[in-house]
Amino acid sequence: MVIKLTEEKELKPICEDHVIKGRRLSNRLRKEVKVEVEKLVQKHGVSPKLVTIIVGEDPGSQIYVKMKHKASNKAGILSDHHDLPGTASQEELLELIVKLNEDKTVHGILVQLPLPKQIDEKTIISAIDPLKDVDGFSPANVYHLFYGEEDLSAATPHGIVTMLDRIGWDDLSGKHAVVINRSNIVGKPLIMLLLNRNATVTICHSRTKDLPSFTRQADVLVSAIGRRTDENDPFFITEDMVKEGSVVIDVATPHGDVDFEKIKQKALCVTPVPGGVGPMTIAMLLKNVVAAYSTQLS
Ligand code: GUN
Repeated sequence: MVIKLTEEKELKPICEDHVIKGRRLSNRLRKEVKVEVEKLVQKHGVSPKLVTIIVGEDPGSQIYVKMKHKASNKAGILSDHHDLPGTASQEELLELIVKLNEDKTVHGILVQLPLPKQIDEKTIISAIDPLKDVDGFSPANVYHLFYGEEDLSAATPHGIVTMLDRIGWDDLSGKHAVVINRSNIVGKPLIMLLLNRNATVTICHSRTKDLPSFTRQADVLVSAIGRRTDENDPFFITEDMVKEGSVVIDVATPHGDVDFEKIKQKALCVTPVPGGVGPMTIAMLLKNVVAAYSTQLS
């Protein structure tokens, strides 16, 4: 069966030679955000502002947050950053969040995860004003997602379904989506986003027995295992685990879960690492900042 991919006319395709061009779509969305920001700044006379917080020295967090600032500034979004020591108390972090909640010049607050052990993630996320919660992790925003409202939803899973939407897989009726991840950041919000698109959803995780029996059924396979420590480690998702004609999304960084070179010959399309989900996460965060700013000023 030939599945037709619907694309925006006169633009380079998002899926080309069986590869989903995440960076291409991200750049397109980031340009749209920039235009939107220019329009809104003219209207309101105020620039959108994102504030990020890192507690401790996690090297991955430092890299990701730097990328978020660079992309924000390129799109006309102001940004500020707070580094707290790894020994900071929960009260210190809460105090900073309360200050940022009250600051009218701040439209988006992002506390980079993971947090050190002495700090309770749920308490911190719940303290962020839901209108400024550009991660979409707060109870109010998770609840909105339950009701199919995706405006402030988690950036990584929202980036994944946006890629599916843009290759024409926006209605997943009759399709089976299998997600290997049950985290609050990826797997759980992704369940809602896939259900919103009528998919039949299965979540697999480290306690799942016979993983290949699930992955082989997947029309959409999303893998976010991320335990390969270098490029010589074996892939978790091999060609024999993938259904012919499926869409395969690799969320793992810096080393993908998926045997990309082999699987792209069997799948309808597959995301590369790097250049797939990562750039999409950034674009969706910027969209969230603009949505948050727009709501707060209207
Ligand atoms: N750590 C890994 N991914 C994310 C994310 O999307 N948001 C935050 N705040 N922390 C993360």
